[in-house]
Amino acid sequence: MAAKVVAESVKSSLGPKGMDKMLVDSFGDVTITSDGRTILDEMDIQHPAAKMMVEVAKTQDNETGDGTTTAVIISGELLNKAEELIEKSVHPTIIIDGYRKAQEKALETLEKIAISIDPTSQDYPKRVAMTSMASKLVAEHREYLADLAVKSILAVAEKEGDKYKADVDDVKVEKKTGESIRDTQLVQGIILDKDVSHSGMPKRVEKAKIALLDSPLEIEKTEFDAKINIESPEQMEAFLKQEEDMLRQMVEKIEKTGANVVLCEKGVDDMVQHFLARKGIMAVRRIKKSDIEKLSKATGGKIVSNLDAMTSADLGYANLVEERKVGEDKMTFVEGCKHPRAVTILIRGATERIIAEAERSIHDALCVVRDVVEEPKIVAGGGAPELEVSRSLKKYAETLPGREQLAVKSFADALEAIPITLTENAGLDPIDVLSELRSRHEKGETWAGIEVNTGKVQDMSKVGVYEPLAVKKQIIKSGTEAATMILKIDDVIAAGKMKTPPMPPGGGGPPGGGYPGMGEY
Ligand SMILES: Nc1ncnc2c1ncn2[C@@H]1O[C@H](COP(=O)(O)OP(=O)(O)O)[C@@H](O)[C@H]1O
Ligand SMILES: [Mg+2]
Repeated sequence: MAAKVVAESVKSSLGPKGMDKMLVDSFGDVTITSDGRTILDEMDIQHPAAKMMVEVAKTQDNETGDGTTTAVIISGELLNKAEELIEKSVHPTIIIDGYRKAQEKALETLEKIAISIDPTSQDYPKRVAMTSMASKLVAEHREYLADLAVKSILAVAEKEGDKYKADVDDVKVEKKTGESIRDTQLVQGIILDKDVSHSGMPKRVEKAKIALLDSPLEIEKTEFDAKINIESPEQMEAFLKQEEDMLRQMVEKIEKTGANVVLCEKGVDDMVQHFLARKGIMAVRRIKKSDIEKLSKATGGKIVSNLDAMTSADLGYANLVEERKVGEDKMTFVEGCKHPRAVTILIRGATERIIAEAERSIHDALCVVRDVVEEPKIVAGGGAPELEVSRSLKKYAETLPGREQLAVKSFADALEAIPITLTENAGLDPIDVLSELRSRHEKGETWAGIEVNTGKVQDMSKVGVYEPLAVKKQIIKSGTEAATMILKIDDVIAAGKMKTPPMPPGGGGPPGGGYPGMGEY
């Protein structure tokens, strides 16, 4: 029941015509989204079985980055149908067996109907990205954003044997309020949300030789309080001079390597900044650790902790490092890096809320493009694959004996929830649409689906609504897994922290050593 309620709550957000949710946390902060994972993440869920639905969304998101709502709906629907079977006194273990068989068959069918594509072509990956963004707040700009997503993933993709591998984390995403979503841009390189630390330093360095540091350019404070007794002004002066010399030496060490840009994870002393500025060396300080690592990958430079050991071989290279004004703030652009596999998407938008939803949408788009680049197979959307799989499962069920047959049939019915929900969310009549879909699939129209923008049943491959096969396969896997796991549970028991049960007063515990109050849930 609890798990079904969760599935019910995300239903209305499925598809391009789905509604958004406004999530309000205890501080009154508001998130507006239609992203299944985000909705479930932010929801305050108490019931342990309901929490398992959140896990479904998480797995789905981590594995493929899209299809979270669909997976949760299918999981809820599988439980719904199981309940009906249990009422007809089919035992849960038989349902579980049937569901597992159905899952195998469903995956097989998906593989069979999938269309193979060329992963390096721009066209199909772009369509896939556009489909994933069709149901988001930024749908209006999806063509533009899909282009950026495809270009970024193709830039970071690596060939391994005859396959490609791409890591979404290699695409850096930066955000800055101002302008509009249309001004979101792709930069061949890395953008740092930091300015050049000293006004006397150059703001633009071409042919940059970059020192990457993860230790501070400061005189380290001792861990304990130390006192120095100074007796004369000369001693005081000598002490200060000593400190200045140490800082000056740091700069000299950097200069000796030939570096003209210093990118530092920690702080840089004012005096060091001053010396660097005098030598015409640019410095940016307090850069995020993850960014320093990305910079190292992109520029080919080594991250150095000890200045004494630094040589010119440790330096990274970029054609240009420049501070630019973006909106109200200044950011540092590192472009034309040694390894061209470094890109940053700079998201712009009128408000932080729009930018946050744009970031989630772009992340989904990057994920689905990665999915098809790594496994270059796609299916059409709009409920077409679910219906085709459902049809084949119904045929398959005929070949099975008695009760298992019922379970496989239920699995087939559960899949129909996707085209039905898409239709309902578009304000159309699900009964009309479903019967038309069924009859057209029966006639061999594999990609007949519901195009929600026109409200017509049509060949979804003709309107270019494509999705990665990987997403659809994962939906079946995570949906079935959660449903069967919940089906196997017949009781929820509050597990106490105590190892030995407390003896009830009067001695003589309950028979079988059971905990008191066990059946209350
Ligand atoms: N133009 C369209 N017509 C009908 N269905 C569409 C269209 N565009 C996308 N879809 C469908 O919307 C569903 C995805 O909706 P979405 O809200 O993103 O949920 P999920 O979190 O499961 O990805 C997919 O089944 C996809 O095929
Ligand atoms: Mg989606």
